[in-house]
Amino acid sequence: MIEFVKVTKKFGPVVALDDLSFKIEKGEFVFLTGPSGAGKTTLANLLLGKFLPTSGKIFLGQEEIPRSLAKIHLLRRKLGVIFQDFKLISDRTVFENIALPLEIMGRKKAEIKDRVGEVLRQVNLGERINFFPAQLAGGELQRVSLARALVAKPEVLLADEPTGNLDPESAWQLIKLLKEINKLGTLVLMTTHNIDIVNSLCERVIKLEKGRLVKDEKKGKY
Ligand SMILES: Nc1ncnc2c1ncn2[C@@H]1O[C@H](COP(=O)(O)OP(=O)(O)O)[C@@H](O)[C@H]1O
Ligand SMILES: [Mg+2]
Repeated sequence: MIEFVKVTKKFGPVVALDDLSFKIEKGEFVFLTGPSGAGKTTLANLLLGKFLPTSGKIFLGQEEIPRSLAKIHLLRRKLGVIFQDFKLISDRTVFENIALPLEIMGRKKAEIKDRVGEVLRQVNLGERINFFPAQLAGGELQRVSLARALVAKPEVLLADEPTGNLDPESAWQLIKLLKEINKLGTLVLMTTHNIDIVNSLCERVIKLEKGRLVKDEKKGKY
């Protein structure tokens, strides 16, 4: 579950989010749309704890996102995230990139190996396990990044313009995977400009303009 209660975020004089309130239940699939500069990435960054809201409250699961960024890593475990530019580590293999979150959590080697194999199969990339990022195509890189986001079994998957750098076919492959992950119970919140994807999926659409919520529809269009 994600809840924003009267959240405002200012950067100096710029109001990136303006008194924003909404709630997303466990297991929902939601598109967050709106023009460039509307505040979509700011919303994602608030969930990630990259910075704090100027005012208002944000809840993830049953807990409020801590006002202290020092405690934010505890909440980060509930959240998997993928970005437009993948953010993979270029001198590490597919296996090493995906294993990293579990290593940080101190999981055992054998457990890590099993779990990485499992998520790689889930994203249809089992045979690429020892490749480096430079040896993969864009669609494959995004699926590696998806596997890394899923490896610690998050309750929420946050995807910020995940198809922004993908060709149409890879974009649809990714969307299909996000739908499957959602069916297995994970809340998916995806920011996007892609009108075709939003319109053909008929999922809930939350639209921002100038930091304000201007639309929230159950089976929405862009
Ligand atoms: N770290 C930041 N510092 C200053 N201004 C920012 C920062 N992040 C975003 N903004 C501003 O906040 C507004 C919303 O940006 P953003 O959330 O990136 O929009 P979107 O992702 O919808 O394109 C924009 O006016 C942007 O310039
Ligand atoms: Mg953005």
